[in-house]
Amino acid sequence: MNKNLSNIKKAIKYLNNDECVGIPTETVYGLAANAYSNKATSKIFKLKKRPKKNPLIVHYYNLNLLKKDCVINGKFLKLYKKYSPGPISFVLKLKKNSLISKNVTNNKKTLAVRFPKHTLTRRLLKKLKYPLAAPSANVSTKISPVSKLDVIDEFGKKIKYVLDGGQSKIGLESTIINLTDRTQILRLGGIEKKDINKFLKSNIHFVKKQKNILSPGQSKVHYSPNIPIRLNVKNPKKNEAFILIKKRKHSGKNFYYLSYNKNLKEVAKNLYKTLRTIKKRKFKYIAIEKIPNKGIGEAINDRLKRASKFYEKFSRS
Ligand code: TXA
Ligand code: MG
Repeated sequence: MNKNLSNIKKAIKYLNNDECVGIPTETVYGLAANAYSNKATSKIFKLKKRPKKNPLIVHYYNLNLLKKDCVINGKFLKLYKKYSPGPISFVLKLKKNSLISKNVTNNKKTLAVRFPKHTLTRRLLKKLKYPLAAPSANVSTKISPVSKLDVIDEFGKKIKYVLDGGQSKIGLESTIINLTDRTQILRLGGIEKKDINKFLKSNIHFVKKQKNILSPGQSKVHYSPNIPIRLNVKNPKKNEAFILIKKRKHSGKNFYYLSYNKNLKEVAKNLYKTLRTIKKRKFKYIAIEKIPNKGIGEAINDRLKRASKFYEKFSRS
């Protein structure tokens, strides 16, 4: 049997048994479980040490199952046709008779949904009779994983199975757009805000804080390697791991390149992987070069700001 197919079958076996499975997506790896099962979804919160209040994104193959769970509107259909499958999540109204587990939504009336593009995960979703709740496969507030080994790094033997789909192509989480009563971007990510606005001929804003939702993706303390990070640095100190996006004449042992010529997509793809490596090499401090705040750079800077805040807050308390 084809290896991918037999791996997908393994993943299905675990998922049907209400277990959590690591799945590859083009953004980051997810920690997936049957979104209709209370038992399976409660395991996600336990493994991730995630506050119960923080709702999960649910991953679908297409609109067939989604129509049973969510109220579909015109703006959503337009964006779905343009960007899905792909790195964008939509917040929609939940239908009253939806089968989604209460754990997923924390009893709220909205649901974040996404249609990932990774071929293996699409093949998996197509074979399932339920959608997959899947937050990023990291322990709460830590760095998101972009490979199978990263997921194992986070959970060790506590995770039963990880479907190996190679390194995530985008390397940064999906853009989240609220399409319920208000239209807002809740998280910057794989699809750029300016492209969405151009496509819809709109002026949708990024709101950093939402009322009534505890959302680490939006809180200041997130995406953290637990190491203090200095931003916009030209010259690093001796004891800092120095992250760069443009080739320098003189390189040091402590230099880590995300890209050699300021290619921001490459920067996004390599960011989490590099932070994880630096953490493994036991650096106590990180410095990072200025990253242009355009295109996906805006999402990168948003993540870096949150990561740098971790230590500030930590050292204050
Ligand atoms: O790229 C991604 O979106 C990855 C891959 C695995 O799909 N998933 C991901 O999930 O990043 P997570 O849980 O790490 O981040 C999802 C964010 C959280 O900050 C959560 O609070 C927010 O989405 N969220 C979930 N449901 C929501 C809802 N109904 N309304 C507003 N925000 C919501
Ligand atoms: Mg996350």
